[in-house]
Amino acid sequence: MKKTLIVANWKENKTAPQTKEWLEEFSNPKFQIPNNVGVVICPSFVLIPVLRSHFSHHTSHLSLGAQDVSKFEEGQYTGEVSAKMLKDFVEFVIIGHSERRRYLGETDEDVAAKSVLALKYDLIPIVCASSVKEARSWKLEAGKDAGGWRLDDVVFAYEPLFAVGSSEPDTPENAQKFAQKIRAEVGLDVRILYGGSVNAENVKSFVSQPDIGGVLVGQASLDVAEFSKIISNSVQI
Ligand code: PGA
Repeated sequence: MKKTLIVANWKENKTAPQTKEWLEEFSNPKFQIPNNVGVVICPSFVLIPVLRSHFSHHTSHLSLGAQDVSKFEEGQYTGEVSAKMLKDFVEFVIIGHSERRRYLGETDEDVAAKSVLALKYDLIPIVCASSVKEARSWKLEAGKDAGGWRLDDVVFAYEPLFAVGSSEPDTPENAQKFAQKIRAEVGLDVRILYGGSVNAENVKSFVSQPDIGGVLVGQASLDVAEFSKIISNSVQI
C-alpha cells in the first residue's frame, strides 16, 4: 500500500532565516512522522539548499520538491531552472498550480511539456488540475510523448479554484468524486491528492476517501505546529 503523501507548498513565502527557524522547530522529537506517511516540502528554489543540508540528518519519510520547472530542457532561457538541474536536489516537482496558470499564463501545453521533462530526469511531477478537463488535456498532451515512463510515476492534485487559499475547502465527498473522475481520465494507478484549504481539522476527512492518497497544503504548512498536526491527524482514526 502506498504511503499517504502530505505535500507542503510554501509558495512565495519564507526567507532563509525563517526556513531555519521552521526546521529547528520541526526537528523537535515531539513531531514524529508516522511510518505510513511521506512528507514532501516544496519551498522556493533558493531555499532548497537550506532544507537539503538539514534533511541529510533527518528521517527517510521526508523529501523535497520544487514548485515549478522549466518547460525547456536547457539553453538560452534566462531565469529558468531545468529538470536536469533540479534532479540533484529534489525528488518531486509541483507542476501547473492554478496560481501559475492564473498569474503567469501557464497553459495546458506548458504543464504537459514540464511533466514530460520532469519524468525524463526522474523527478515525480505533482500535476495540479482544478477540473477534469485540465486532467484530460494533460493526458492528451503528455501522452503524445512516447517516453518510457509509467503513470504510476505521476501524482495528480485535484485543487478546485474556489478552495485554494480561501479557507473554504471542498467537501470530502465532492473531492472523492473528482478524484475518481480524474483517475478515470488519466489512469488507474495514479496517486491523487486533494488540495485547497486543508488544515488539521479536515485532513482526515480527505485522506480517508478511497481515491485520495494525500493532500497538498499551502497556508497551513507554514506553521510548524499546524503542519505537524496535519501529519499526525492524517493517520488517526
Ligand atoms: P491552501 O493552498 O492550502 O493555502 O489553500 C493549497 C495550494 O495552493 O496548493
